[in-house]
Order: sequence, then C-alpha cells, then structure tokens
Amino acid sequence: MSEFVKLNFLSMSDVVANKGKAKKSHEAMVIFVDAKLALAEQTAAQMPHLAELVTSASAAAKFKGKLHSSIEVLNPAGISAERLIIIGTGDGKPEINRLNLGGVVFAKVGAGRNAVVMCDLAGGDAAAAEMMLGAQLRAYKFDQYKTKKPDGDEPEKLGHLSFAVTDVDAAKELYAPHKGIGEGVILARNLVNEPPNVLFPIEFAKRAEALEKLGVEVEVLDIKALEKLGMRALLAVGQGSRHDSRVVIMRWNGAKDKKAAPVAFIGKGVTFDTGGISIKPASGMEDMKGDMAGAACVVGLMHALASRKAKANVVGAIGIVENMPDGNAYRPGDIVKSMSGQTIEIINTDAEGRLVLADVLWHVQSKFKPTFMIDLATLTGAILVALGQEYAGLFSNNDELSERLAAAGKKTSEAVWRLPLGKAYDKMVDSKFADMKNTGGRFAGSITAAQFLQRYVNDVPWAHLDIAGTGMAASNTDINHSWGPGWGVRLLNQLVADHYED
Ligand code: BES
Ligand code: MN
Ligand code: ZN
Repeated sequence: MSEFVKLNFLSMSDVVANKGKAKKSHEAMVIFVDAKLALAEQTAAQMPHLAELVTSASAAAKFKGKLHSSIEVLNPAGISAERLIIIGTGDGKPEINRLNLGGVVFAKVGAGRNAVVMCDLAGGDAAAAEMMLGAQLRAYKFDQYKTKKPDGDEPEKLGHLSFAVTDVDAAKELYAPHKGIGEGVILARNLVNEPPNVLFPIEFAKRAEALEKLGVEVEVLDIKALEKLGMRALLAVGQGSRHDSRVVIMRWNGAKDKKAAPVAFIGKGVTFDTGGISIKPASGMEDMKGDMAGAACVVGLMHALASRKAKANVVGAIGIVENMPDGNAYRPGDIVKSMSGQTIEIINTDAEGRLVLADVLWHVQSKFKPTFMIDLATLTGAILVALGQEYAGLFSNNDELSERLAAAGKKTSEAVWRLPLGKAYDKMVDSKFADMKNTGGRFAGSITAAQFLQRYVNDVPWAHLDIAGTGMAASNTDINHSWGPGWGVRLLNQLVADHYED
C-alpha cells in the first residue's frame, strides 16, 4: 500500500519542551482556535506566548476563527517552526467533524511538508486519531501513470505530519482501527481509478486475492465453476469480452462462533461497461471504468474489517465481468436462464449490472444463509437524476436494516436515501416471453432495477445501494480529491461495528 504522507504521534509536552523525538524543528506548526479566538487548553497552558500572537495576527487579518478558516504567521517569534498555521474550529456546534478537520489540516500544511499539529481538541486523543485518518484520506492521489510532473514543481518528497497528543500510546491504540479503514478506502479508490485495460476481471480477482495476507479466505470462481453453478445471466454479460469473467468470494470469520450466520456484502464489478450491443454514446464512456465501484467497495470493506479484526463473520462476494460488443456478445432478444432457474429476456444489453447481481445474490443467499445481504452497484443513470451525487439510493425489504444504514450514513457522511419498492413497480419487469425482462421502461428506472434484484434475494433481509451517483466521478471534499472516492467502505464498516459484532 503506497504512502502519501508519513503520520505519527508525538507527546505534546515534548514538542513544547522541544526535546527528544520532537526535537527537530518543523516547517509548520498547526494550532486550533475557536470562534472566541481561544486556544485549546493545553496549548494555551504550555505556550502562553501564543495567545498574544493569535490575537494580533487575527485582528490584522480580520480572522474570526470560523470553522476551517485559517491564517498563517511566517517566522513566528518563539516557535520552532517557519510557519504557524492557525485553524478555526468555530463555535463547535454542530459537533465538529474531526475526520474533515484532519483533511483540512493536511490541505493547509500542503503535500510534501513537515509539520506538527497541536492536537488538543475536545474529544482528546480520540479526536486526534480521527484527524489522522482524515489527513491520510486527503493526502491520497492517483498519479502513478503520470511520467512528468507539472512544470516548475519541486521533485516530490513525502510529507510528514506529527500529531502532538497527551498520551502517545493511547492515541496509537485509538488510531489502529482507523488505519485499516483508511487503507480499505484507499484500496477501493485505487481499484475505481485504475484504467480498464489494466483492471480487467482476472486482474481484479488477483487484487482481491491479496486479502489472504490479512487472513481473509478468498475463493476465485472461474468460467468452468460459474458454468457448473449455472450462473448463465452473469456469464451472458461477459461472453462478448476477450477477458474471462470471475466471481470472487471472500470470507472473514472474526466472530467467536465461526459457524454463526454471516452478514454478506455483494458488489457489481463491471470493469468496463460499453453497453454491449446496445452500445453507449461515445461522450463520457471512459467513466465506465468505474462501473466496478460496488465491487471495489466490498474488497475495501473486507480489508478494513480484517485489518481491524472485526468480531463478525462476513462474506464479500463480487461478480466481475466486462460488457463488450462482439460477434459473441449477448443480444437484445436473447433469453437467459439465471442460476435461480428464473428466465430473463434481454431487452437492453446495457442493463447488465442486474444480471451480474442476480446470480451472485442468489448464490450468496442459498450458500451462506446470511443474516442480511447488502449489495452495492453503479446500477442506473436514473439514480443520478433522482439524487445527484449527494445520496446513494437505498432500496430494501427490511425497515430495521434501512434505519441502521441511514444512521451509519449520517455518522460517516456517506448518506443514503430510501426509495420505494412495490408490486406495481415489480410488474413493470414482467416479460412477454420469459419470467422477467432486464429493463422496466422509461419511468422509475432505479426502482425497476431494484425490483429486478429483489426477485433474487428470497426472504433474506436485503438492501440495495445504487451508487451510480456516489461511487465515481466524485466532487472534491475535505477528505477526498480523487475521482474514485472509495464510497461505502466507511459506511458499511460503521454498520458492522454498531450492530453486528460480538
Ligand atoms: N453502469 C450503468 C449505470 C451508470 C450510469 C453508472 C452513469 C454510472 C454513471 C448501467 O449499467 C447502465 O447502463 N444502466 C442503464 C440501464 C438502462 C439501459 C435500463 C442506464 O442507466 O441507462
Ligand atoms: Mn450498462
Ligand atoms: Zn453498468
């Protein structure tokens, strides 16, 4: 896992005394002040000379300590740093998001810089640990395919952020789970950002297999195995591609009772979606390299759960295919038999995600009898029309699961919005020639896609997250400047942590 910034904790008193490991002076020091321009308690007590500096600099710059606003003092007197960065924390209401604040800190310090952050905020060392995750996520960039740096840039060096805290050992322990979560998000981002000539199904499966290092059991089902299982719907989507399809089953058994029913996460992994014979327009088609964001999230989540040794039994299952037009491609009019035995009339080969998920969902519920199934898929353009990029669409047959997901969404700022399911919508995917068709007409496109999936979940509590809006082409936030945001890893990790661990 590549590193974008070095992170460590220092003891606040050592930094102030300028001794031991903290001795080396820093390019920058970050301190926080509230809307009254008051320094945090320990910083104020240990560096009393700062108060006057903050007051005069703030007055000169009309700085009011507003949340995430900042001023800089160059060559400040009495501080062993070239820049003093003063960041506002506002009035603290609504409760400050430490993750975002960590992202803001990294951004103000700048990449490649060496800084110390006086991390004494309400929330103590736990807040520092969360800020560190925010900095880790903000520092991420995907630039390994650039052979030239922009003109005039200094050669890249690795920055170094030290978080000064009360108790270094306690902070390290609090950060440990966050580290795995951060790596999981970054793994998901990398997968979404990779170009489709590099990340085809077999390569994707290989990247998932790397989770074995963390103690995840990984099983890769090849074409022969998929044929044997009868996954004809999934195989139909991939049959026009030079790249063979794969299904990967990942298992993390962290519960005390290794035999207890698992929770299950299922991801759509279309490594490139041309639309197939129902080909998409050329404009923007390159974005369809991200049509595997659901599968990327599941792999990132398994990484996070395994690294923090989550006390839960978890199955991750991803269907990985490439949807291409070809002499051997599936066609509109074809009728395919899914693993469940139900037949599907293909109306549009661009409605391929639901075909992939139909077989993986069916397989997971019949083989693992999970407590719940949650699938993630960049499934419909219609969800972008309905919700934009702010919320993922949530569809579910279970109120409790929906409420838990919504609550985890609020906590992590990976928000979900529930949309309806119902008989009338279900009828819209009935077919003249087969048990169902793979599109439901012009109206309610995201809902009819979800209705289609529901025909493959049996009675298992299930939720479907349509992440076509949130899973790729993300706009920049305090903790993400990457096209692939790694959406859903923190959400689902939170859901598991809050409700499904021993
Ligand atoms: N992968 C697309 C959905 C998509 C669109 C994801 C935009 C991200 C951004 C999906 O496979 C698709 O093509 N869906 C069709 C379904 C239609 C043919 C019923 C769509 O949304 O147009
Ligand atoms: Mn499609
Ligand atoms: Zn697709």
